[in-house]
Amino acid sequence: MCGIVGYIGNNTEQTIIDKLKKLEYRGYDSAGIAVMNKTGYRVFKSKGEIKNLEKVVEVSKDSKIGIGHTRWATHGKPTEENAHPHVSEDNRWALVHNGIIENYLELKDKLMASGMNFYSQTDSETIAKLLQYYDGKDKLTTIEKTLNNLKGSYALAILNEDINGIFFAKNKSPLFVALNNGKALLASDIICFNGFATEYYVIEDGEYGFTDGKKLIVKNRLGIVGKSPCAFDCSVENVENVYDHFMIKEIFDTEKALKSNLEYYSVEDNLKKLSALNIKNYDKVVFIGCGTAYNACLVGAKFFREQLDIDCFTDVASEFRYSHPKLDDKTLVILVSQSGETADTLAALELAKENKSTTIGVVNVEYSTIAKNVDITLPIKAGVEVAVASTKAYSCQIITMYIASLVLKATLNKTKADLKEVSAFCDNFSFGKLEKYQEIADTLRYQNKIFMIGRGLDCCTAYEASLKIKETCYINSDTYFAGELKHGFLALIDEMTYVVVFATQKEVVAKTLSNAEEAYSRGAKIILFTSLDDMDKAFMDKCSFIVKVKDVNCGLQAITNIVPWQFIAYYTSVSKGINPDRPRNLAKSVTVE
Ligand code: F6R
Repeated sequence: MCGIVGYIGNNTEQTIIDKLKKLEYRGYDSAGIAVMNKTGYRVFKSKGEIKNLEKVVEVSKDSKIGIGHTRWATHGKPTEENAHPHVSEDNRWALVHNGIIENYLELKDKLMASGMNFYSQTDSETIAKLLQYYDGKDKLTTIEKTLNNLKGSYALAILNEDINGIFFAKNKSPLFVALNNGKALLASDIICFNGFATEYYVIEDGEYGFTDGKKLIVKNRLGIVGKSPCAFDCSVENVENVYDHFMIKEIFDTEKALKSNLEYYSVEDNLKKLSALNIKNYDKVVFIGCGTAYNACLVGAKFFREQLDIDCFTDVASEFRYSHPKLDDKTLVILVSQSGETADTLAALELAKENKSTTIGVVNVEYSTIAKNVDITLPIKAGVEVAVASTKAYSCQIITMYIASLVLKATLNKTKADLKEVSAFCDNFSFGKLEKYQEIADTLRYQNKIFMIGRGLDCCTAYEASLKIKETCYINSDTYFAGELKHGFLALIDEMTYVVVFATQKEVVAKTLSNAEEAYSRGAKIILFTSLDDMDKAFMDKCSFIVKVKDVNCGLQAITNIVPWQFIAYYTSVSKGINPDRPRNLAKSVTVE
């Protein structure tokens, strides 16, 4: 969360603002910049999105060096006071920070005891004050001494009034640097380098340094670090949008994304590492993710269980580490993450590696920390996902895990995976009847709470559909296993309640419908979601809405089932006047635990 930028070059203020806009997916609670000119640095801040900052920034012809920040608030409310950059008391240092300083209260006490005053509630201000505390002739030594005090995660871009350049440091939050002809750009995401440079440097954990645009000095605790540049792949920036919002664009991208995924996994070479893995060497598979990625794990675990007849477990990443998981070299750990930077998922990866488990990363961002650190990376090929609510990435996570389960099964039989069924699914992919989704959205927009029920794969869809409705429409949507209704949840049903019934799984449909009847008899209004033709007519007559989707007849039904709910969430959100791309209190990349 939070995005940071550092820039050395002309047109400083506007360049930083433009780059911050690209990082806004990381948080949009407040924003700020500090820009140096001959008389020192000037700080501008504003609450809310970057467009508010743009209105208050005064451009100066002398500016050449600056830093910027877009915030997702952790410590302290999203006020101007708490917005970055944060400055030292003597105003000689200014910095932007992405991450969390876990021992900041202890440090703050120590600094206050030394006579310093604090103006914000943030952990980040402590770093600015520490820089002043350790200030000396050699600024890199000052930085080093400051970093030695910090526990937690940080990507930092730092200005000092006397120095023509930008200092930086990184631990567990992403940071990249690119140089170009005397200009420099530091950023939390390489998408900022589009149009600026064709190469960039990855700053690793424990590294810190300085650039003035001509040279790049990188150090760690052992001394100077030699860095090799990585080539910048321009395709990462392909985020043109002709739609009103990225969310709807990305839902429509699904078809293309699924085809790109299949195309990628149809190339033998791309399956090499996965096919070399013998599932018989493992006694269990553990699927880890957060939010939507976790919901995809629920589906992935079903695929692996069915295809490979192996014990599969799922856990949300934030719980996993503290649940005393039994991990060893016979455990296969699958980490699912769109961004590849989610702090909880990264912590789970660390634990898996410590315990010598084999790790697979199912990721969208192929240059991400998870992608770089797992034993096997399975890219989901969804393309850049900008909207905070994950849509096409979820579908691509599912197809990836489905293909992976087929490949591992084929490997056991010493054959090649047969992807014909996947291919047919992609060829016949359909978004369904958009007018129907709009109709449902027109009703749901007036609801405060709804319930979603299903069994098996349908319950996985219900979890993800509920999450989409919650985050983009601010409606309390709750999910239950259909069979659980009578164990408590029926008490919540009244005439105002809509219950969405997912019924696409033939083997349990009769039971699901009986559960739906239990809700209907107590006054609930039913939205039936099914792929099946031979549904009970009497029951269908009781439904307020029926959404009929294609019967896919394999696990990929999970994709067919979720897409309508992504549309419904989008339409409901827009009709309520919410910006579905930037729901309140959220951020796309969650880099704090
Ligand atoms: C919901 C959503 C979040 C993410 C979660 C994990 O639409 O996008 O729940 O799925 O924050 O993010 P990644 O997949 O980047 O690890």
